[in-house]
Amino acid sequence: MAATSPVAPCDIIVFGGTGDLARRKLLPALYLRDRDGQLAADSRIVAVSRAGLDDAGYRDKVSAELRDHLPSGSYDEAAASRFLARIHYVSIDVAEKGSWLTLIALFKDAPQRVRVFYLACAPRLFGSICSGLRAGSLVTEQSRVVLEKPIGHDLASARRINEEVGAVFAEEQIFRIDHYLGKETVQNLLVLRFANAMLEPLWNSGSIDHVQITVAETVGVGGRVGYYDSSGALRDMVQNHLLQLLCLVAMEPPNRMDADAVRNEKLKVLQALRPLTGDEVHHRTVRGQYTPGLVEGSPVPGYTEELDGAASTTETFVALKAEVQNWRWAGVPFYLRTGKRLEQRASEIVVQFRPVPHSIFPGISDGAIATNRLVLRLQPDEGMRLHLVTKEPGPGGVRLRQVPLNLSFAETFKSRLPDAYERLLMDVVRGNPTLFMRRDEVEAAWEWTEPIHAAWADSRHRPQRYAAGTSGPTAATALIERDGRTWHEEESA
Ligand code: BG6
Repeated sequence: MAATSPVAPCDIIVFGGTGDLARRKLLPALYLRDRDGQLAADSRIVAVSRAGLDDAGYRDKVSAELRDHLPSGSYDEAAASRFLARIHYVSIDVAEKGSWLTLIALFKDAPQRVRVFYLACAPRLFGSICSGLRAGSLVTEQSRVVLEKPIGHDLASARRINEEVGAVFAEEQIFRIDHYLGKETVQNLLVLRFANAMLEPLWNSGSIDHVQITVAETVGVGGRVGYYDSSGALRDMVQNHLLQLLCLVAMEPPNRMDADAVRNEKLKVLQALRPLTGDEVHHRTVRGQYTPGLVEGSPVPGYTEELDGAASTTETFVALKAEVQNWRWAGVPFYLRTGKRLEQRASEIVVQFRPVPHSIFPGISDGAIATNRLVLRLQPDEGMRLHLVTKEPGPGGVRLRQVPLNLSFAETFKSRLPDAYERLLMDVVRGNPTLFMRRDEVEAAWEWTEPIHAAWADSRHRPQRYAAGTSGPTAATALIERDGRTWHEEESA
């Protein structure tokens, strides 16, 4: 069971309270923290949206959603009724001054409590919500605001949002969430690197040939087509989740686990990324879009069918080759890929070590000895595997075989791995921003991805088609194979 050191009494106000994120992720995460005794007795959750509901109507909805979205076996009748009693619902039209009054009235008796304003709504509303909070005198010293991604659409819009929010909240009150940083396996990457002395001496271009970061999903865009079609995989996944993973792999050791120490190091990695511009974008990136196919045995429509047949050049798949230009990583490519409607859900970081310099084994040439590889599995089957070369048992000479040392978190720790939002929401209440993105990081990530978009937009090429249920466009295979390497495909456990 997750650790349950209680957090201070708080009010958590979720804008976008009837939205997908609130229903699928935030409320289930808060329920689980409450069930495990982490929320103080009088903490409240206030859902805000435009829908005309009252407390009872909203609680009924949440009660049904919890059963749908909680991990099996987590729903407990008594815990759920205590949780539902904490919930209030307020209907607001952000643009209408008068409609804020009910929300303002809810807070007049609790000025000292921690207030978390969670903006789980479209980023174009962030500025007006923050102005509304200020106009209603709702922002206190103990307040924090959480910004869901995407923070903008490009560098200019991200800057504008950061300015608007920054006019109301101080930077240390702003929590820009990237839920990948709350995943247990992602935090474990920091522990693996900085709590094990044996890896750090090898963690550089002297021993590492290349790194692969894959986030493969089987889901399509489902009910999010409106958002997704104006976003695409580069904005939706690479600009944030994949670049954050790259930062954690590539960063220098911070001197302590402190918000600014960690984020300073991540920022340096983003700033050291070799810019991809112009023609080079076409050599080093691949974008794809899924067509109808079979995913996990079921037929699924293609992306444009999900858009009701409208033509679209939005990418649902990206693969690219990045480089971090510094002493540690010079010459070590980082291959990134992510896509929807792929063959299987599998997210992993693969650190591929260099081959041995010389074979001493008779009949086995230098190149025939498999190389060591560390695979950090983010989901599913969280864990890590270190692939080593061993002697196959038996007489008749030395035969080499690569076998994995396997650490499965489920088997080793025998406990539920908490969802990323559980950890991150409690960090916000505690006021700990270590696992959140700072303004300069978000802007640096946009700065790097923007020229890729620009080159794609100028190009006469369209995204390459790939059938749903496959591993993506063949050009993504070619991208890595051109360099004499292959994508890692983990054999099942
Ligand atoms: C979100 C993206 O940030 O992350 C989604 O907007 C994506 O498109 C999701 O499906 C993936 O998250 P997870 O935790 O399921 O890997």
